[in-house]
Amino acid sequence: MEQITVFTVGAACRRPALIFKSFMAKEFKRYLITSALPYANGPVHIGHLAGVYVPSDIYTRYLRLRGRDVISVCGSDEHGVPITIKARKEGVSPQVIVDRYHEIIKESFRRLGISFDIYSRTSSPTHYRTASDFFRKLYDEGKFIERTSMQYYDEEAQTFLADRYIVGTCPRCGNERAYGDQCEQCGSTLSPDELIDPHSAVSGSVPVKRETKHWYLPLDRYEPFLREWILEGHKEWKSNVYGQCKSWLDLGLQPRAVSRDLDWGIPVPVEGAEGKVLYVWFDAPIGYISATKDLTPDWEKYWKSEDTKMVHFIGKDNIVFHCIVFPSMLKAHGGYILPENVPANEFLNLEGDKISTSRNWAVWLHEYLDDFPGKEDVLRYVLCANAPETKDNDFTWKDFQARNNNELVAVLGNFVNRALVLTKKYFGGRVPACGAMTDYDRATVAELQGIRSELEGNIENFRFREALKDAMNFARIGNKYLADTEPWKVVKSDPARVETILNIALQITANVAVAIEPFMPFSSEKILRMLAIERPTWDDLGSMSVIAAGHEIGEPQLLFEKIEDDVIERQLAKLAAAKAANAAAEAASHVAEQKEEVSFDDFSKMDIRISTIVAAEKVAKTKKLLKLTVDTGIDRRTIVSGIAEYFKPEELVGRQVPVLVNLAPRELKGIRSEGMILMAEDAVRGLVMMRPEEKVTDGSQVG
Ligand code: 2FM
Ligand code: ZN
Repeated sequence: MEQITVFTVGAACRRPALIFKSFMAKEFKRYLITSALPYANGPVHIGHLAGVYVPSDIYTRYLRLRGRDVISVCGSDEHGVPITIKARKEGVSPQVIVDRYHEIIKESFRRLGISFDIYSRTSSPTHYRTASDFFRKLYDEGKFIERTSMQYYDEEAQTFLADRYIVGTCPRCGNERAYGDQCEQCGSTLSPDELIDPHSAVSGSVPVKRETKHWYLPLDRYEPFLREWILEGHKEWKSNVYGQCKSWLDLGLQPRAVSRDLDWGIPVPVEGAEGKVLYVWFDAPIGYISATKDLTPDWEKYWKSEDTKMVHFIGKDNIVFHCIVFPSMLKAHGGYILPENVPANEFLNLEGDKISTSRNWAVWLHEYLDDFPGKEDVLRYVLCANAPETKDNDFTWKDFQARNNNELVAVLGNFVNRALVLTKKYFGGRVPACGAMTDYDRATVAELQGIRSELEGNIENFRFREALKDAMNFARIGNKYLADTEPWKVVKSDPARVETILNIALQITANVAVAIEPFMPFSSEKILRMLAIERPTWDDLGSMSVIAAGHEIGEPQLLFEKIEDDVIERQLAKLAAAKAANAAAEAASHVAEQKEEVSFDDFSKMDIRISTIVAAEKVAKTKKLLKLTVDTGIDRRTIVSGIAEYFKPEELVGRQVPVLVNLAPRELKGIRSEGMILMAEDAVRGLVMMRPEEKVTDGSQVG
């Protein structure tokens, strides 16, 4: 048993007391790391990575390096309404959609070095069996309640409308495209009954209410257990997670339906449940169990032993399901362990705007990997350095470039390169011996050794941003060491001293390779290849005898390359194009309905002439009005036009515009207006000027 010293703080005295660590923190024999199963209805983007997959991979790699028994499981979440909606839009079956995205997601995770031990899927036979058996056990033991309720039904499409199939106006923010379960604009959780003007996303028709039966997990019965387990037992959880759990519990839990009227999903395995499937949030977390079963026949040791530490990596929108619903399911079932921690992150924004799949406002992982070959670690680094651990954060391409150029190239890459290149230059690539160390050498080594426990503490407590700084500090200290000891100068006067300096620099380089591995595995591997050594262990961290004197290193190569402005501009242009496409789609969705039919005679009554604006000025004491003098070809006349918010008077003079010249005159702010300038009214941009493509004679008729 490991003995540690703690200080008890009393009013009268401060004295060290010996206690046993096992009384304070439980020691676990193995770790089960789960990462939220991404929906297979689209590719993975940087928001998913920063929130879930990069942190989970850092944690897992760290545990592996420390020699722990750890498995990391994930897979595609292949049920749920968004998948069926996408399939309907594309006119294909949901299976086609999930097959497509499962492959894209799996492959892009692999390319980024996300080292799951298994990436499974919820359409797997193991999962169907596991989820069905889970439901059936709870059903047989009377753990559900059955309820009939009135739910929205689309008579045209002859289907009940679950959650996302109902759209309407959000009662909180007025977003006209809120879903029956959530408003993506303001983030509110909604129920279909709260939507104003609900209509079906399937047929567009107004739904009616119909009676339907469902099974509910009575979460209220698990409230005392959850209060005790989370609020008393897990005060160490991140404050955002603990706080969200507390407010759910304080509001009081309600029974939650675990089945849906849908034709895509795992059929409810009881009689009389035709047309009903398990609710996606009932089956998806069971996917962690099925994935473990597919990984190892020894799966029970991970799920059923109190010696296992289970950690769920998720985004903040998944907290309630992983801290309240799934633990209640596990408790109801019995025999399974509960998560020890759920280190949920907040959200990552992109260039100041919420990441959105439907608006294509995202940096897609598979596209990044194609656009930036060999720069996997740059993305991993930036997403960790800027991870939304305690609040929402913003990803910008400028910051990405700056972090690459100023931190990865200038600090990490520069240090490793100098250590290797100087060894090649002065010692033909053979590691020189370490001679007598100076006080400065010893201080440097001591500083390095001090970082290790801080780095461990930060990773083990899910503070990955701080941990990354610690890992980078190995390189920072190395860089400073070379800058201060100046071997390139000393070599002329004291070559023996340079042997020691470069020995220490190479030992630090090997330390760097270990310290950065959880964060930047590709670069770690590259350093080891250049040093031509096997991977040292985590316990070598801080050691100055990782590489033996006389060992021959490999060829130095640049670890990172500068990213130039044009590369960043191309990415920004991609986003600008997405924004423009969204604006166009938005405008198209606001196109006004066609007006009542008119006869040709009615139309011919309109006398529209191309006219030149010859003078323009603001109408005093108004915001919107301009007084224009136009040459209509017939005469020169005054027109008062409500366009001042869109155009400056000086930019109008000399332009030709269509004018309705026979509109009855009217008085505006005491000025007689004789006609109307015709403009296009764009739903997004506002008023836009129209003009003939070529200059024409004033007075030319339009018709
Ligand atoms: O939010 C999501 O993307 C869900 N597909 C996460 C599921 S996590 C787990 F429960 F499977
Ligand atoms: Zn809203």
